Amino acid sequence: MKIRVRVNGQTYESDVEPRKLLVYYLRDDLGLTGTHVGCDTTSCGACTVLLDGKAVKSCTVLAVQANGCDVMTVEGLERDGQLHPLQTAFWEEHGLQCGYCTPGMLMSGYALLQTNPHPSEEEIRRGISGNLCRCTGYMNIVKAIRSAAVKLADASAEPSKEVAASGSSSD
Ligand code: FES
Ligand code: FES
Repeated sequence: MKIRVRVNGQTYESDVEPRKLLVYYLRDDLGLTGTHVGCDTTSCGACTVLLDGKAVKSCTVLAVQANGCDVMTVEGLERDGQLHPLQTAFWEEHGLQCGYCTPGMLMSGYALLQTNPHPSEEEIRRGISGNLCRCTGYMNIVKAIRSAAVKLADASAEPSKEVAASGSSSD
């Protein structure tokens, strides 16, 4: 079946088998191997991507169901060679060990911060409750998402800081 999907801002037109899962379309057809397969049975969350802005487990979505949709994978976080603040925070807070769950954690964290820019620890834990990590004990993942929320809030406050700074320099 023919599908047309926008992935990380780029449009792809493909002919896919009706039974092909979105995760395999992304990995095998588009070469976007940042999205991991941990279980293939909707259990681990390693395959999480955004489908029209909502976090979904891409091993549970058929590629044909993404027809006409916007998909964002972990490769879409980085912009112009700059890591997304979430990625930086995972690095700084040691939010990963083996890294297998990390793409899914990043995408669930990203989806959470889109709808709730200032989540509490409990809200973060709920936000990543569909993502399993066998290494970290989750503590540093939660810290990383909290740290990213602060970084993003600071970044969005930056223009007003500049205005304030330029105002004070003219005193
Ligand atoms: S690979 Fe999709 S939930 Fe585990
Ligand atoms: S860092 Fe290894 S599974 Fe999470």
